[in-house]
Amino acid sequence: MPAVSTNRGDELKFEELIEGLVTNQFGVVDDFLDPELAIDLRINLQKRWSDGQMHPAGIGKRFSFQKNLKVRGDQISWIENNSEDIFEKSFIKRVSAFADYLNQTCYTGINDFEFHYAFYEEGSFYKRHLDQFRADLGRKYSLVIYLNDAWLDTDGGKLSLYLQDRDISILPLGGRSVFFKSDEVEHEVHPAGRSRISIAGWLKRT
Ligand code: OGA
Ligand code: MN
Repeated sequence: MPAVSTNRGDELKFEELIEGLVTNQFGVVDDFLDPELAIDLRINLQKRWSDGQMHPAGIGKRFSFQKNLKVRGDQISWIENNSEDIFEKSFIKRVSAFADYLNQTCYTGINDFEFHYAFYEEGSFYKRHLDQFRADLGRKYSLVIYLNDAWLDTDGGKLSLYLQDRDISILPLGGRSVFFKSDEVEHEVHPAGRSRISIAGWLKRT
């Protein structure tokens, strides 16, 4: 990955995420992305959805589609790391800068990442799970960025994290980002009363 320069404002957000992970097993920050970029990515996602480009997410080849649906109901579409879309380019740049910062400050050796748009229709969920599984040991850190507009407490759709000594829940507010170790923190997406959109992905060491 090419090194990407960052300014101090960026670094503060990165530090907040990392500091949270180191002290509490998870980091959360609002406005990980510029608010305008979050809106542009939301529009991208909605376009992919209306163009029929999103597809049901799988959890493993061993499971049937019906079985998958009992575990997760989101529909996804991958963001190519070499995307030509200007907004996706900005997003990838931001993630690269974060990965570089993480490598420089924590010697994490991240050398790849993968992200997808996710669309949870009203009532969809993702049962308690871990993001690193046997087929994908390269996933080291999970990063979720919410793209929802004006999300309310009453909309539900919280992300629960099952930590060592407690459980916590996070509302999927637009622009908010959550960061945790893929092989350590079990988590769950609760059903929402409206559609719920995000970008979810993984920083990898391969
Ligand atoms: C996932 C996931 C969490 C969320 O995609 O693996 O757990 O809050 N997403 O959308
Ligand atoms: Mn997950």
